[in-house]
Amino acid sequence: MSNFASTSPILDESLEVSIREHITSIINDQIGALPEIEKLTNDEIRGIIARYSAVLEGNFIYWMTATYLAIKVEEARAIIIENLTEEVRDSHPAMLRRFAKAANAFPTQVDALAVDSELTAVRLFLGKLEGVKSLATMAYFESYIQRFMSYLADLAAARGSAERVYTDVHGVCDIAHSEGLFQAVSVEMSINPMKAGSNLYEGVELLSTLVDTINHGSRQAAAKLHA
Ligand SMILES: [Fe+2]
Repeated sequence: MSNFASTSPILDESLEVSIREHITSIINDQIGALPEIEKLTNDEIRGIIARYSAVLEGNFIYWMTATYLAIKVEEARAIIIENLTEEVRDSHPAMLRRFAKAANAFPTQVDALAVDSELTAVRLFLGKLEGVKSLATMAYFESYIQRFMSYLADLAAARGSAERVYTDVHGVCDIAHSEGLFQAVSVEMSINPMKAGSNLYEGVELLSTLVDTINHGSRQAAAKLHA
């Protein structure tokens, strides 16, 4: 785990705690609201895996890269480089694709369009390259993904798949990444401050809306497909 509390005089621990608590409460609500797998149809189970895959496979490395471009704190950049290196070297997108295919849940046009507007909102937000907010967003995401993994593995099991590499890897290694990113938010804030009146949680809110759409589907999906 990256820990620069002892080397950085500008780390604001109380701010870090409040950011972590706020984001953790959002994640707790989302994990608590996950549908009971026993009550889902087989197609609804497939939909959650497929939407997750449609979002994560092509976007995680892109979003981490956007965050790298947005931030100024060297320690935070080092955490992200470590993360990106692992993603590319071990090809996490290939790992996720294998997971989705094994569960017979490879995303279709319907799945991709179900998350389309929420996904676009997150992409446009990260394109603004606002360091503090982008870091908070990725700290949320790393932490959420780690908490979501056992549920994702259970969904795959319900589809008759025993493929577990993706969920095993992300249930463990992302803990260190999210801890480092939480620390980095307050440090980034001290050297690369947000604009006055800015909402620190703008990206967290947009990304958590996208996560809700992954988990619960979108009523607008069918309409978009036929538009
Ligand atoms: Fe990954």
